[in-house]
Amino acid sequence: MAVTVRSFAKINLGLGIGALRPDGFHELRTVYQTIALHDVIRVSVGRGSGIEICCEDSRVPKDESNTCYRIVERAMVALRAHGRVVIEIEKRLPVQGGLGGASANAVAALLGLERALKKELPGPERLRIAAEVGSDLPLFLVGGTVLGVGRGEEVYPLPDLPAMSCVIATPEIGVSTPKAFADWDLFVSRELQVTRKLTPPPASDRMVEFGRVLSAWLGGQSQAKYRSGKASASSGVPVSKGRGRAGNPLLDLVRTGIENDFERVVFPKYPELRQVNGVLMRAGAVYTSLSGSGSATYGLFASREAAEKAAARLRKKGIPATATTTLTRPQYWKKIFDC
Ligand code: C5P
Repeated sequence: MAVTVRSFAKINLGLGIGALRPDGFHELRTVYQTIALHDVIRVSVGRGSGIEICCEDSRVPKDESNTCYRIVERAMVALRAHGRVVIEIEKRLPVQGGLGGASANAVAALLGLERALKKELPGPERLRIAAEVGSDLPLFLVGGTVLGVGRGEEVYPLPDLPAMSCVIATPEIGVSTPKAFADWDLFVSRELQVTRKLTPPPASDRMVEFGRVLSAWLGGQSQAKYRSGKASASSGVPVSKGRGRAGNPLLDLVRTGIENDFERVVFPKYPELRQVNGVLMRAGAVYTSLSGSGSATYGLFASREAAEKAAARLRKKGIPATATTTLTRPQYWKKIFDC
């Protein structure tokens, strides 16, 4: 019998890019946040051997380049398991980048495989295998609000942020992530040339600054907890009951000025993406940003109603958009097998 798993997407609440490393990856700091938009993955294990990928969407690869294939291949070896694994991918998420769709699919396939085999990998082994397949996979083994460091694969659960309404816009533009990183390197070297005389901090230091801002925000959250004397027992930070502006730690975070560095190189190349953010802002978003290297962009909204209206406004302009909500860690894990 097939095991069905929801494969939730993510957005990035800020992303600071650092130096290019000798292994070809960039050091980065980001806060990942899972959202309720999802694909559905079905995993079954039968007699025989091999891995089969089934998906009606022609843009999804069915061969060994598929992230689901790659993770299952590794997991079968690590679990010392045998059999023919069939993975069905029901694509509901836009294939456009920035939402971690393929990465989430792979983690869902791994979780489904473990259930189908009634065997589990130890937590650190799961994280290792996920990181081998891609930088954006391990976050989906944590869920909720997640700090990503290293090349993004080193993940730590952050105090969970309250669920908040958001709009995900998915303009039909393909942004290549390796190319966006290369454009960032070019941007940094040009910026250094222009401003060399003033000896400014290199743009890569923005990543270090991102870490400082985040640390100060976390510290502020704890101070607020001790000052008020009340804290959420589960998360360790005060969580406002309302979804309004005051006292919402998610809004406090995005108002620290954290940014997604990719916007600096992706927006000049695709001005229409900046315009999408403009529409979201005019429709009442309290924060907008590119997610990952795009092309998905998002806006956070104070209410579901405001989010629905903004999504409708974007769709009227011909831009695919969906109103949804961010997903806390408990919600993520509760809903993942609840299909
Ligand atoms: O890890 P993932 O396979 O998603 O990375 C795809 C490509 O994006 C890498 O080969 C690399 O060119 C670029 N990348 C990077 N720095 C990161 C993550 C990805 O340069 N932190």
